[in-house]
Amino acid sequence: MRKQIAAANWKMNLTLQQGEQLLDGVLNKAAALKKDQLAVFAVPFPYLQMAQQKIAGKQQVFIAAQNCSNKKSGAYTGEVSVEMLGSLGVGYVVLGHSERREYFQESNQLLAEKLDIALAAGMHPVFCCGEPLEIREAATQNDFVARQLEESLYHLSAEQLQQVVIAYEPIWAIGTGKTASSAQAQEMHAFIRQQLAAKYGQEIADKISILYGGSVKAANAVEIFGQPDVDGGLVGGASLIVDEFVSIMAALKG
Ligand code: PGA
Repeated sequence: MRKQIAAANWKMNLTLQQGEQLLDGVLNKAAALKKDQLAVFAVPFPYLQMAQQKIAGKQQVFIAAQNCSNKKSGAYTGEVSVEMLGSLGVGYVVLGHSERREYFQESNQLLAEKLDIALAAGMHPVFCCGEPLEIREAATQNDFVARQLEESLYHLSAEQLQQVVIAYEPIWAIGTGKTASSAQAQEMHAFIRQQLAAKYGQEIADKISILYGGSVKAANAVEIFGQPDVDGGLVGGASLIVDEFVSIMAALKG
């Protein structure tokens, strides 16, 4: 089976102490993950080391950064390089979250560079894609997402692509309490997999985990994750509440 992944995205929330409490709470309460299941915690940069220490020795639990620089090193004040992340043991990095695209003008081209630099450092990018409301209302979401994939991913080799996790996050469902229906999620996930199959072949496409993101919570996770092409979720708001995220982890297929 493809890896089934419950990914927490803390965004710019919590103090260090609150983050420690949350992570301790989830790690203590969560049931053991099954063979093909992973949990990933995307925490703010200053908490990466704390989080890495807390998951030490846990096989299927990983820490992610929420972003990285597209530059290797040098005079880029305020930026964080993949080499820095690697030196902390961080194995995953979220790239292209819609908030980064919207508020920090991250383009598909810039994200292609970030993917390259993260993959070259041996990291797993969690590549986010997804359409805004006006695109969904115009029913052109497939073209929109296909273009995000094409411009950021399709220069990768098949081997590189297999290191990438994709997160489909319709922007109109993020933090709004408005979830895509499980049918809408399945439809887009199947479309994404079909696009990957057309470019890389079905066998490769079948290996890529595609997560759904946008108002996932304990109450809807079982139904959404139960869809055949949904391989878990990238979770914002509900990942900040111990019992919610523990239930979301338990909702993974496997
Ligand atoms: P949400 O955020 O779960 O709060 O909607 C998801 C995300 O932005 O990754």
